Amino acid sequence: MARFLTSSIGKKFIQSVSGAFLIVFLLLHATINFFSVLDSFTGKFGVAAADDKLFSAGDGLFKLGCDFMSTSVITIMVPVLALGFVIHICYGCYLTWSNLKARGGVKRYEVPSKAAADSWSSKNMLVLGIVILGVLAFHLTHFWTKMQLQEFMGAEAENNPYILLAATFKHWWVLVIYLIWFAALWLHLCHGFWSMFQTVGWNNKIWLKRLRVIGIIVATVIVILFVAVAVNSFVEANWLHPELVAAI
Ligand code: HEM
Repeated sequence: MARFLTSSIGKKFIQSVSGAFLIVFLLLHATINFFSVLDSFTGKFGVAAADDKLFSAGDGLFKLGCDFMSTSVITIMVPVLALGFVIHICYGCYLTWSNLKARGGVKRYEVPSKAAADSWSSKNMLVLGIVILGVLAFHLTHFWTKMQLQEFMGAEAENNPYILLAATFKHWWVLVIYLIWFAALWLHLCHGFWSMFQTVGWNNKIWLKRLRVIGIIVATVIVILFVAVAVNSFVEANWLHPELVAAI
């Protein structure tokens, strides 16, 4: 077992499985966040029912989604999610380091090789991963520390997630940082998705081509949903519902 985990294919396998798990998380996370955009269309952005209950009738869809995320079944998943991130990050660093060593250092792409034909993203998965991780820490301070972390600590959590959306995205510079983050995520996912199947042994040329396209579609859907949420919240905070920010 230990030999498999440190073998070339074993390392990539773990990277793929943890990556697949994180993609499922992102699809769920982006969908629930996108409910806030639908709430804008139905006029429910900012509407959290007055009685402050979980799953109150009259709440916007995004508020219901956040309530669902705070139920114990989902909360139990948080350490698993964190472990998924830790494994993916540690193995990502280990994989890059082993590849660098095997291929002869940072200038490895300067010699003509198959790797020279690799896409920009494939060569920069570690750099993209570092950007994603850095902004993730910034992101957690906007929402998670004010919602789930407060609940873990038995303190009063922010019950109106629209206020957090508006407070976060009202600043243009925060919006710009998030958009850069989403661009890095898009590049990382486009390569990661395809590479995941290649790793688990799908080496059929036609299918690898198709998977590249499917990977681009999955990454684009995830990122478009996030971009829509961030831009919509910026518009809501600055023009449609400025009173939400004033309420803080
Ligand atoms: C517009 C974009 C995004 C918005 C509005 C958003 C919103 C949120 C909210 C409201 C929470 C707290 C959920 C809760 O405590 O119940 C949260 C947590 C979290 N977000 Fe995001 N998020 C966005 C993008 C992302 C992206 C791109 C990633 C990963 C690369 C990410 C990773 C996480 C993680 C790991 C948590 C903590 C676990 C959890 O609470 O589910 N988020 N986010």
